[in-house]
Amino acid sequence: MISGVVQGKYPPLPKTPAHVGIIMDGNGRWARARGKPRLAGHRAGVENLRRILRAAVELGVPVLTLYAFSTENWRRPETEVQGLLRLLSESLVKEVDELHNNGVQLRHIGDLAPLSIDLQEKIHNAIALTRNNNRLIANIAFNYGGRAELIRAVQEIVRSGIPAEEIDVAVINAHLYTGGLPDPDLIIRTSGEFRVSNFLIWQGAYAEYYVTPVLWPDFDQDEFYRALQVFAGRNRRYGGIHED
Ligand code: IPE
Ligand code: IPE
Ligand code: MG
Repeated sequence: MISGVVQGKYPPLPKTPAHVGIIMDGNGRWARARGKPRLAGHRAGVENLRRILRAAVELGVPVLTLYAFSTENWRRPETEVQGLLRLLSESLVKEVDELHNNGVQLRHIGDLAPLSIDLQEKIHNAIALTRNNNRLIANIAFNYGGRAELIRAVQEIVRSGIPAEEIDVAVINAHLYTGGLPDPDLIIRTSGEFRVSNFLIWQGAYAEYYVTPVLWPDFDQDEFYRALQVFAGRNRRYGGIHED
């Protein structure tokens, strides 16, 4: 584990988000800047993810949702898509024990159906192994899209026969992949793009957004702490005129 908090490198913050979403963007540009293939950037991105998971545990962030592969990322060249699937598979095998030992509860949001049975099993096994851990919930958004999630929720609601006049925010929340989790307080996007790219579009209605030009493989613990510091200084109004 990192020891920044223990060493006093990261002073406690006045408020910590209950749920942080991260759009982990910029792996391709990180690789290109080094004359490497895009997949080398994705590998560096996975390495960085390990660091950020540890930092989240240390800094007391209880829920992280990590955007790893969108429903639109299938549009990439076949070799890149296959590389990303392989990387997910390898990382699950390599990292799951350490994550488990560090108290991380792994979850998945998105649609697993298009993935191979082998990969689906690896994901289910990792989820089953870590299901009782409670230091950090790490939601991996893989083949996730906010619109697909809402379509699925509406389909489930209609199928379940809930009368139209009973549909409210709580009913919709309960039918999303994130049902039972708090909305994200903070959504971080690396690599300087000012867009949501179909990530947590319902849940992020009142999230604070933080965009940094730093590319994902370079977004280290100091950068993560900086994002939390900026969040702690934000004045959230939720449509009202002052903070509670
Ligand atoms: C983010 O990095 C990872 C995924 C979307 C899988 P990118 O691959 O989008 O990197 P850039 O945006 O091309 O630099
Ligand atoms: C968003 O990044 C998806 C992930 C980080 C997994 P993209 O690189 O796919 O987003 P766009 O295409 O720039 O909007
Ligand atoms: Mg990108």
